[in-house]
Amino acid sequence: MNRQSWRTRFGFYILAMGSAFGLGNIWRFPYIVGENGGGAFVLLYVLLSMTVGLTLLIAELMFGQATRKSVVMATAQLFPHRAQWSRVLSYFPLVLSLVVLSYYSVITGWVLHFMSQFAVYFISKPDYTQGSLSVLMKSGGLQWGLASVHILISMVIAIKGLQDGVERWIGWLMPFFTVIVLSLIYQSISMTETADVLRVLFYPDFSKLTMGSLNHAIGHVFFTLSVGFGTLITFGSYIKADQHVPTLGFRVTLFDMIVSMASLLLVLPLAMQASSRPLTDPALLFDVLPRFFIEIPGGVVFGFGFFLCLYLAALNASLGLFETIVSNLVDSIKGLSRTSAAWIVGVLCLSLTIVPSLASSFFSETRLIGAKSMLELIDSFLINWFLPFVALGSLYLFDRGLAEKEKRKHFVSSSALASHAMYPYWLFSLRWIVPGVILLGWVLQIINFIKSE
Ligand code: PHE
Repeated sequence: MNRQSWRTRFGFYILAMGSAFGLGNIWRFPYIVGENGGGAFVLLYVLLSMTVGLTLLIAELMFGQATRKSVVMATAQLFPHRAQWSRVLSYFPLVLSLVVLSYYSVITGWVLHFMSQFAVYFISKPDYTQGSLSVLMKSGGLQWGLASVHILISMVIAIKGLQDGVERWIGWLMPFFTVIVLSLIYQSISMTETADVLRVLFYPDFSKLTMGSLNHAIGHVFFTLSVGFGTLITFGSYIKADQHVPTLGFRVTLFDMIVSMASLLLVLPLAMQASSRPLTDPALLFDVLPRFFIEIPGGVVFGFGFFLCLYLAALNASLGLFETIVSNLVDSIKGLSRTSAAWIVGVLCLSLTIVPSLASSFFSETRLIGAKSMLELIDSFLINWFLPFVALGSLYLFDRGLAEKEKRKHFVSSSALASHAMYPYWLFSLRWIVPGVILLGWVLQIINFIKSE
């Protein structure tokens, strides 16, 4: 199969940054920081992004660039003799993508809910109260309905093969989101005791970290950078051979980190000033921001604009996941058409979405394995445990599958002078630091779990 490459590097940036930028940055990061006590965790996140996260991000893009294939076919090509075991490993990213997509769709449904609330507010100015969030939380049916709308939109785009155009179009809209967020941060910070807020966010008080914090940070870094899902391998397969993957990877990581920091500066000051929910609550964003929009001048316009852009960012991220599963299925199952593959993924996703949709209503009293709620249980299992495991599997396939000479060829470039010196560090990080840190995270989390039982 011969792949076309993007004509411009810009096209790649839009896709990779679009896939990285999503609910992970805006919705998940603030409450995970809240859960892990602030500044010290932020520091841990920054360190891990630039080491473990970046190392794997480069590896996955290079995996695609070198083989020009998606994960399943790339593995089949690189391991023709030992196919069985490696093939199984190469399917894990697809399972992960499918389950995460269903869970992600529920939260995207929450975004749709608030987007429509603000659209209605434009027209009829209902008496907006915090009721909006509780209505949503109490109604599993509403959550499932909204998630289904989102899944159907993604499915239609995938069937019609429109994702390229849609992703680019959304990419162009993102500067508007930046402007909205920056002006909101300005207003959010000026409403609060800035010094107190900044202290919590950036002063690293290590005593606030728990044994589980390392695991949380690793999982979040992988999630927010889209590492481990096979998506970056697919994207990498479209990058021209002469483009320098480590430079691209570095810029994507930096961009993603800046967006996450901006989100912290927006959400946490408001949450510390007035929130009816603890900083650790997954619904934090949806409690704090609507309240803020109602208070500030022109807030309804801001509210609608913010949730519309956030929806588009989440759609973009979802399309990356959807496309990865569909294209891998089409490549690996003979005779399967794109349309049938998209239907299979859509229907599976709609069914899997039922459980997380009901987490805050039907399952609200269910407490399993020490988790505070069903949503947290699903989130923690997928992102803190399964994702690092799958990422480790992809790392194994990449490291064993691609000869050292090949890795060096893609890493070292005459146009990026530091790449020659950086190569041994990257390889060391790939073989020792990444697996070591993941294992350490697991061990600490298990000890933490045993202690708390
Ligand atoms: N990185 C996205 C986010 O932060 C989530 C995502 C994961 C998207 C994997 C695509 C693939 O929201």
